[in-house]
Amino acid sequence: MTQAQTEQPRSQTQIEEELVERVLASFAECEDPRLRLVMQRLVVHLHDFIRDVRLSEQEWNSAIEFLTAVGHITDDRRQEFVLLSDTLGASMQTIAVNNEAYKNATEATVFGPFFVDDAPEIELGGDIAGGAVGQPAWVEGSVTDTEGVPIPGARIEVWECDEDGFYDVQYDDGRMAGRAHLHSDDLGNYRFWGLTPVPYPIPHDGPVGRMLQAVGRSPVRAAHLHFMVTAPGYRTLVTHIFVDGDPQLEIGESVFGVKDSLITRFEEHSPGTATPDGRDIGEQSWSRARFDIVLTPAET
Ligand SMILES: [Fe+2]
Repeated sequence: MTQAQTEQPRSQTQIEEELVERVLASFAECEDPRLRLVMQRLVVHLHDFIRDVRLSEQEWNSAIEFLTAVGHITDDRRQEFVLLSDTLGASMQTIAVNNEAYKNATEATVFGPFFVDDAPEIELGGDIAGGAVGQPAWVEGSVTDTEGVPIPGARIEVWECDEDGFYDVQYDDGRMAGRAHLHSDDLGNYRFWGLTPVPYPIPHDGPVGRMLQAVGRSPVRAAHLHFMVTAPGYRTLVTHIFVDGDPQLEIGESVFGVKDSLITRFEEHSPGTATPDGRDIGEQSWSRARFDIVLTPAET
């Protein structure tokens, strides 16, 4: 038989698989083994996805336009890529992979797009509100290791939205409110005044919001107060506390951040009830929550 007779036309499957092999081979000379692995596995999964759904060229164009819009709306105060990662569950999956449960350590959850790194320091018992409006909430607890040994001097960053569901960075006036950092005392304890958390929608006036609307999903997050706790020798903890009884916990939330262990009771107190530190907050109700933080050793 001649050579022409022995060569069969390549099947569609072969054409697609050979392309994957050629793209994988293009990374073979990458000297960084981790980068090589990540890029090659990304190619495998990306091509699998395209082949699995038989992605149309129109859909591919729409995806490019969508990601372009995500980039265009992102700036110093608006992080649409984090929203996209959050709403696809990619943020929570990355957290799950990198924060394996360790003994009784506090569980982690999403970082979110609203942290700023120059929040003011407050004294123990100080107020993080800084003018943000909402029901006052007294929050206290301890910072310990998994054996219950206190961790003094842990840096505790806290941030939250106001009662209208907006973080300070979502206002155009440059305000800094609803955020602060403090340090645990010599016994590892901390306490501060904040606001009783309320549910809020993630920013949904951009491409991620349009994606949620197109698929019939709500942008609303369960009420929460953000924490980031750092101490030398321990894994940095990024987490929230959620409000026990918040109906949104049952409905589900837009970024998949809820963990049962983080649902915390905010005990309601009537106006005029004595506050824990004797502070006069006038004729308004307030709440009280306790959140004991357990850190994981860095080398685990
Ligand atoms: Fe948040």
